[in-house]
Amino acid sequence: MAREIAGMSVLVTGGGSGIGEGVVARLAGLGARVTVSGRREHRVAAVAERTGARAAAGDVTVPDDRRSMVDAAVEHGGGLDAVVHAAGNMYRGPIEELTRQGLQDVFASNVIGPMLLTGLAAPHLAERRGAVVFFGSVHTVRAFPGASPYAATKGALETLTGALAAELGPRGVRVGCVRPGGVLTEINQRAGLMDDATAAARMTALGAEHALGRAGTPDEVAEAVQYLITAEWVTGALLTVDGGLGLGITGA
Ligand SMILES: NC(=O)c1ccc[n+]([C@@H]2O[C@H](COP(=O)([O-])OP(=O)(O)OC[C@H]3O[C@@H](n4cnc5c(N)ncnc54)[C@H](OP(=O)(O)O)[C@@H]3O)[C@@H](O)[C@H]2O)c1
Repeated sequence: MAREIAGMSVLVTGGGSGIGEGVVARLAGLGARVTVSGRREHRVAAVAERTGARAAAGDVTVPDDRRSMVDAAVEHGGGLDAVVHAAGNMYRGPIEELTRQGLQDVFASNVIGPMLLTGLAAPHLAERRGAVVFFGSVHTVRAFPGASPYAATKGALETLTGALAAELGPRGVRVGCVRPGGVLTEINQRAGLMDDATAAARMTALGAEHALGRAGTPDEVAEAVQYLITAEWVTGALLTVDGGLGLGITGA
């Protein structure tokens, strides 16, 4: 049986923009007590103001910040029912040009920080038989040349979902992963890869590669997050929500 989202305490990292912002808006709109995090305080504060969520700005790669995000969510919601790891960064480039620092940074924000944050949250989640949601990517099933660092982090997240589901299942904690297709957000622009107009044009072109002929919206991905948080007998699941982009349709 699915649980009610209303009244749940949910921590959303990377909630100051894009898909994370969509998750905050959807869950808060359904009556969850949401705590929103991200590094840019003004973005986190604006989302909190608009949705009624609690702002707890911070960086998932910083130990004190991870602790204060979890503490804020536990305090705001009277416990913790779910952590949604929407924090993430793009790093791409030809293999000859990748740097050690760039690779360490993208793994720190996309994989290592979220794993350590999950460890901090686990005792609280166990008290409420809660859930953890990661974001994989269509990059794990369709090859985007030059995007090997990002794809590698997403492959790690999709894989660790199963291992953590097995580890935390006996304590009643469910672990899931949403694999989105193309959604126009600011992830490439924040990485300095393109401007807004180029990102929009690229997403329109990529839209045609989806079976449904268009890119998705943050709320369409947030719907899947809601499902994974509330579905009582679902764990270790990788939920593809990609408009058919991952099918790799060929016209030949
Ligand atoms: N858009 C897509 O097509 C797509 C497809 C598949 C998967 N995804 C995944 O969906 C998730 C959300 O991305 P998005 O597309 O919505 O991009 P986005 O709008 O750029 O959102 C990512 C958020 O993460 C925050 N963030 C980055 N590093 C952080 C850190 N160290 N600590 C805390 N917050 C951090 C960013 O804000 P600050 O810079 O202020 O911290 C930003 O608000 C990511 O995991 C992404 O890989 C996206």
